[in-house]
Amino acid sequence: MLKGKSLIDPMDFTLEELELVFELSNDIIENPKKYSTICNGKLLATLFYEPSTRTRLSFEAAMLRLGGEVLGFSDVNSSSVSKGESLADTIRTVGCYADIIAMRHPKEGAAKVASTHSSIPVINAGDGGHQHPTQTLTDLLTIKNIKGNFSNHTIGLCGDLKFGRTVHSLVKALSRYENNRFILISPEELKIPDYIKQEILEKNNIEFIEVDRLEKIIDELDILYMTRVQKERFFNEEDYVRLKGSYILNEEKMRKAKQDMIILHPLPRVNEISNEIDKDPRACYFKQARFGMFVRMALICKLLGVWVDVEYR
Ligand code: NCD
Repeated sequence: MLKGKSLIDPMDFTLEELELVFELSNDIIENPKKYSTICNGKLLATLFYEPSTRTRLSFEAAMLRLGGEVLGFSDVNSSSVSKGESLADTIRTVGCYADIIAMRHPKEGAAKVASTHSSIPVINAGDGGHQHPTQTLTDLLTIKNIKGNFSNHTIGLCGDLKFGRTVHSLVKALSRYENNRFILISPEELKIPDYIKQEILEKNNIEFIEVDRLEKIIDELDILYMTRVQKERFFNEEDYVRLKGSYILNEEKMRKAKQDMIILHPLPRVNEISNEIDKDPRACYFKQARFGMFVRMALICKLLGVWVDVEYR
């Protein structure tokens, strides 16, 4: 049972628990009214120490659509953090007011630390260049609903695989399903971290290759996951400027792709998918953003224990 748990890493939930989250998400999509007051009287705190549009707003929209309420900050300068308050103290205090926390922080491991000091569930909404498990729930629900299942796919991950936390979480999550193959497409400087390669891919004997050109392999892909070069994690502007135009998905490249390949992107996009692609039926990134809200609704219900699955009653 997920009641009272935190979600810090995509591996925190078992495959069965994930399946129940997706089932509930789809029931919410089909019967939104049934859930519109289920969180009455509950409060979600959104603590965002780093900028966000989609993640924060989708958490807030999720809680409001469940009949709950939200409070929090999206600018650390307006909170006591700017006075030097420790993360542990902020979390303990918020635990006195709210029922559940969604937090984003620039430091890797911050959400984990927060969860050890918290009396209420903590959801990691991104910790530095590390993990982003609710984006992964979003990505998985999109794959499930559009491709039908999580197995036997060739998945291309393209762009900033070094700093892109959504990539790290998605590789972890998809590595638990049968017969997936990864094509990691990045410039030399933005390759996926060794710990993902060694501890996830190699350890589990998962087939993967690293390449630097998208057009060479696009015809093999079932799923193409594009990412933004993570400007905020670069130490110098010059490197960012040099690397940001590495990949631009355009009509010419898409002509080589399979007819049923899907394009995902956690968003925001900068220039890595040209706007002309948006009308291509294979472009699924805005659908993906919508699935993100529903999966967060399901997650909040589960962690608060307001929705208990039949098998646990
Ligand atoms: C991602 C993030 O914050 O890591 N965005 C998101 O949550 N949808 C990806 C990004 O910022 O590039």
